[in-house]
Amino acid sequence: MPACRLITPDDAPVLAGLVRANRDFLAPWEPLHRDEYFTEAGQLVSIQAALSEHAQGRSLPCVMIDADGSVVGRVNLNNIVRGAFQSASLGYWLASAAGGRGLATAAVRDITRLAFAELGLHRLQADTLVHNVPSQRVLARNGFVRIGLAPRYLKIAGRWQDCVLHQLVSDPAEQGNGAERR
Ligand SMILES: CC(C)(COP(=O)(O)OP(=O)(O)OC[C@H]1O[C@@H](n2cnc3c(N)ncnc32)[C@H](O)[C@@H]1OP(=O)(O)O)[C@@H](O)C(=O)NCCC(=O)NCCS
Repeated sequence: MPACRLITPDDAPVLAGLVRANRDFLAPWEPLHRDEYFTEAGQLVSIQAALSEHAQGRSLPCVMIDADGSVVGRVNLNNIVRGAFQSASLGYWLASAAGGRGLATAAVRDITRLAFAELGLHRLQADTLVHNVPSQRVLARNGFVRIGLAPRYLKIAGRWQDCVLHQLVSDPAEQGNGAERR
């Protein structure tokens, strides 16, 4: 069974429950959210916005799913850019209770395959806070390589923070070209 699938409006109640239950767990790794985000109505608005972007070819918004089909998190390709770039940004979160079993690693593997095989992209970029070792391990297990450190790159938890940039290109033979050594 795939470890991710396209999000639907029917996912709003479960996602609202997950973001509420994981509010403290996710807060250090995410932008600040308004209180509405933690409600079913807020999740529905967010899903509809994501599906509208998807319809325009600008994103691939998915949910992470467990072996029994239950929704356990989100995994998204955002900012799909075509032309000479053929690139997108990867983002994800997994409910704390579902962690440590390889579900995020599998979901990243599956959305990566979709990005290259179905969407025809050339490259994915994923940015982590410098101290987000679990996320860096998910990326490393999927073949992403570190390409640099960007100072004050993302406003996470209300503060502009440094990020480690990672990329994966569709042809593994190209992966090492210019990549920063660890
Ligand atoms: C980042 C995040 C997704 C990582 O979650 P995770 O549970 O460590 O990742 P996985 O689900 O892939 O599980 C991997 C762990 O399960 C273990 N594992 C157990 N069974 C496994 C299996 N069958 N396959 C793969 N890994 C398995 C792995 O060894 C690994 O542990 P390790 O890194 O200590 O070696 C999660 O911590 C999270 O959502 N954090 C908050 C939000 C966030 O940081 N998002 C990313 C922003 S850049």
